Amino acid sequence: MTKRVAVIGAGPSGLAQLRAFQSAAQKGAAIPEIVCFEKQDNWGGLWNYTWRTGLDEYGEPVHGSMYRYLWSNGPKEGLEFADYTFEEHFGKQIGSYPPRAVLFDYIEGRVKRAGVRPWIRFRTPVRHVACDAATGRFTVTAHDLKNDHAYSEEFDHVVVASGHFSTPNVPGFPGFDTFNGRILHAHDFRDAREFAGRDILIVGTSYSAEDIGSQCWKYGCKSVTVSHRTAAMGYDWPENWKEVPLLEKVEGNTATFRDGTSTHVDAIILCTGYLHHFPFLPDGLRLKTKNRLATANLYKGVVWAANPKLFYLGMQDQWYTFNMFDAQAWYVRDVILGRLDIPGTEAERLADAAAREAAEDALEDSYGAIAYQGAYVQELIDLTDYPSFDIPGSNAAFYEWKKHKIKNIMTFRDNAYRSVMTGTMAPLHHTPWKDALEDSMESYLRN
Ligand SMILES: Cc1cc2nc3c(=O)[nH]c(=O)nc-3n(C[C@H](O)[C@H](O)[C@H](O)COP(=O)(O)OP(=O)(O)OC[C@H]3O[C@@H](n4cnc5c(N)ncnc54)[C@H](O)[C@@H]3O)c2cc1C
Ligand SMILES: NC(=O)c1ccc[n+]([C@@H]2O[C@H](COP(=O)([O-])OP(=O)(O)OC[C@H]3O[C@@H](n4cnc5c(N)ncnc54)[C@H](OP(=O)(O)O)[C@@H]3O)[C@@H](O)[C@H]2O)c1
Repeated sequence: MTKRVAVIGAGPSGLAQLRAFQSAAQKGAAIPEIVCFEKQDNWGGLWNYTWRTGLDEYGEPVHGSMYRYLWSNGPKEGLEFADYTFEEHFGKQIGSYPPRAVLFDYIEGRVKRAGVRPWIRFRTPVRHVACDAATGRFTVTAHDLKNDHAYSEEFDHVVVASGHFSTPNVPGFPGFDTFNGRILHAHDFRDAREFAGRDILIVGTSYSAEDIGSQCWKYGCKSVTVSHRTAAMGYDWPENWKEVPLLEKVEGNTATFRDGTSTHVDAIILCTGYLHHFPFLPDGLRLKTKNRLATANLYKGVVWAANPKLFYLGMQDQWYTFNMFDAQAWYVRDVILGRLDIPGTEAERLADAAAREAAEDALEDSYGAIAYQGAYVQELIDLTDYPSFDIPGSNAAFYEWKKHKIKNIMTFRDNAYRSVMTGTMAPLHHTPWKDALEDSMESYLRN
């Protein structure tokens, strides 16, 4: 086979694409030449922790948004690879909320075994992608940072797997320019100990707000105030934690909110989400979407409707993560291999995307959203040889998780769930999350 496929990014989504092709090759299929471009010096995407913020040593925007002491925010039973279980990797069943280093090790284990590292060009950001209307081929321009050499190559297909939780959405508020303290976005948050003894203000109410606030609480901040634009999170928070309406202004170290109340703050952490940002894609190929479950203009959530030789992985908001990326990558692989047909007209492909958006808009609550994304994963894996798994069982683990959070937001990580891949129950972790200040892999695996 002489086709060439470019994969942009070697995070969980891009690695799923490499593993999908390698798995087909292992079963005897002829596969295209795969070139994966990765701007960092290692694989793992966000799970590849860096202390750096701002620009890296080559002047590139730092991709990493993860911080020290981050533990999975959902049960690992919802993200397990169906072709490579936690028990297979660690030789035993492990706790349900692994810290970042443990999940990195798991992600890495599968691709190390698959032997796909030589397909990746590290330290090589993609700068531009163009499609030639006459030939239908793509020209990908990349920059080999180590040798400071920019070059272009041609490909038959491009798979964009560059992630969408890296470019921060940073609103401003009156008084920020004279605030007497640090203002940062969650993307630049690295170590909760920096805020020990401090009064912190968090803007936003989603996962970053909840988890960064909880980290700061765990590592000894004085108080947490969370400001919401739409609605408060409403958990039963510890006594030094309060929820307030949207920030109106800051004067000195005093923050005032829409209800007229005010409080003293030492630092402001904007947990205001991320932008889908593809500076390397021209108009016509560039996805424009909000962070939602059904992304506009993508047939089956992955095929660019206007040009079905271009694919996007992992661009949805995520309840399901690693195994959803797998389901997408196996599907994209089979489209590229010509094993699966897609509708011949752009109008049909757009109709599919629009129907998915309408179905999402009709969902009533987050339980419905979990079931919706579970059904999407099922739809894709039914079309390929990705090992099927008990998706209702995975949904159930997510439902339990949500109930555990409502019961006690600071102890939900002390629960354990059954693997839908192996049927084994996870052990309870040896230390409650709030007391587990040391979260190395060695410590976590000491069950
Ligand atoms: C703080 C935080 C915590 C999270 N915690 C969890 C969790 O507990 N559980 C969970 O399941 N999910 C979690 N997530 C969700 C996360 O999005 C997924 O787990 C996963 O990392 C997404 O994989 P990805 O490959 O799509 O994107 P990413 O992990 O972002 O990887 C994208 C890769 O593309 C590379 N790249 C980007 N641009 C270019 C370019 N121009 N050229 C070449 N390479 C490029 C990047 O360097 C990166 O390696 C978290 C996200 C954040 C931000
Ligand atoms: N430990 C962990 O595993 C962990 C930790 C952190 C993050 N994550 C992951 O990271 C991903 C991103 O989560 P996220 O919380 O960063 O982003 P997000 O889910 O997109 O949420 C963005 C938040 O910012 C608010 N917001 C946006 N613009 C605003 C503005 N101008 N003013 C006030 N509020 C504004 C939104 O409020 P509205 O509701 O009003 O729109 C929302 O609460 C998720 O996949 C999450 O699972 C995981």
